[in-house]
Parts: sequence; C-alpha cells; structure tokens
Amino acid sequence: MHGIIFVGLKEFVVDTYDRPTWDRIREGGGVEGKRYTPVASYPDAELLALVEAAVEISGVEEPRLLRSFGRYVVPTLVDMYGVYIDESWTWLELIENVEETIHQALRTGDSLAYEPPAIAATRIDDGVALVTYGSARELCDVAIGLVEGIGDYDDESLEVYERRCMHEGASQCEIVAVDSTTTRRRANRLIDRETDGNETSAGSNH
Ligand code: HEM
Repeated sequence: MHGIIFVGLKEFVVDTYDRPTWDRIREGGGVEGKRYTPVASYPDAELLALVEAAVEISGVEEPRLLRSFGRYVVPTLVDMYGVYIDESWTWLELIENVEETIHQALRTGDSLAYEPPAIAATRIDDGVALVTYGSARELCDVAIGLVEGIGDYDDESLEVYERRCMHEGASQCEIVAVDSTTTRRRANRLIDRETDGNETSAGSNH
C-alpha cells in the first residue's frame, strides 16, 4: 500500500488524538517507532495491523474509524496528486475522474507497484453518483469516507451510503453519493432504473 496512506493515517491519529496515541498504535501494530514516507510502499498487512491497534486503543469501531480516516485523507491525496486534478472540477467530476485519471496513473506511472482498487463511477443524475468498489482489501468504509471527503473538498454536503456491500455477500460494494437537492429514495429509484434493479439493495431506502 502506498506510503501516502500510512502518512495520512498518522496525520489523522495525531490530529484526532495526539502524538502519544500514534506511538501506542505503532507499538500495538508491531512497528514501534517506524517512520513512513509518501514515496514508498508498505505491506497491506502492516496497515491492517495499525488499523486493528487503532480500533483497540481508540475504542472506536472499525467501520467508523475507517470512514473518518477516508474523509480526513482526501486533502492529503489531492495535495500529492493535484497534477491529475482540474481545480474547476465539481465533486461529481472529481469522482468521475478517479478511476481513469488518478487510480490508473498510480497503476502505470510509478516505479513502485501500487494497486489502487477498481472503482467505477457513474453519474446517475446531476446530484447523484454511483461508485462501485471492488478490492480484495475490502476497505469499503475507507471508500465511503473518501467520497464524503470529496464532497468536503467541493464544499458540498453529501449524503453517502452503501446500497450493497461485500461484507454482506455482494460481489462489489455500491456506494451512493447524493447532494442536498436529492433524496435517498429518488436516488435509489434512479439507480434501479439505470441498473434494471437486478439485485436487492442492502441499504435502507428511506
Ligand atoms: C470516489 C473516490 C475514491 C474512492 C472510492 C477511492 C477508493 C480507494 C480505496 C478504498 C483505497 C484503499 C485501497 C483498496 O481498497 O484497495 C484507495 C487507494 C488509493 N487511492 Fe483512491 N479512492 C478515491 C479517490 C481517490 C483520490 C481523489 C485520490 C488522489 C487524489 C486517490 C488516491 C489513492 C491512492 C494513492 C491510494 C493507495 C493505492 C495503493 O497503495 O495501491 N483516491 N482508493
């Protein structure tokens, strides 16, 4: 996993808690005193060990912790990969460009072997995006937080929810982002129409 994710996790912990908490998390994750840099790659297992320690030490449940982290880390990612981002993009345009422009560049542009997840983003309506996420890492909670963070980036208060989830047996997670002009019910109706409603939704429809 890309070093920027580890650096982002450290910043998230130090900002949300404090430096000694990060020290304890590193210790709990079996990497006491280890420093991370954004221009290196580290084992996925190391990130998962740090997350597990963070859950234990903070007492915050893993899905909520990962989601908060995803939301927090967007500005850090945008800073590092700003070259691929057009400043005039809205949240929806940024989401639409993640896979082809950003994640794809990560797969091919670097000497390090990054493996960002396969995501697909569809503009369902002007205020509705459907993001499908598939990765063996099963970090959909981070993905949900990233979508929320992209809303923050554009000063747009998005409602972000999952219709289907890998953790509940779906082959891919379906994450929906809805702006304040649209309801969840309308978004689900539009998505059902677009996707022929061919599976039962995991998320609630209210
Ligand atoms: C719709 C928005 C996005 C979603 C759903 C998404 C999803 C994710 C997730 C869940 C991961 C963790 C690894 C995994 O699950 O396999 C990840 C990795 C990553 N993403 Fe994205 N992402 C989004 C936007 C962005 C943006 C805006 C950037 C940069 C500006 C970015 C750069 C990265 C990087 C650097 C990694 C680490 C890749 C690696 O180590 O292989 N992502 N992405």
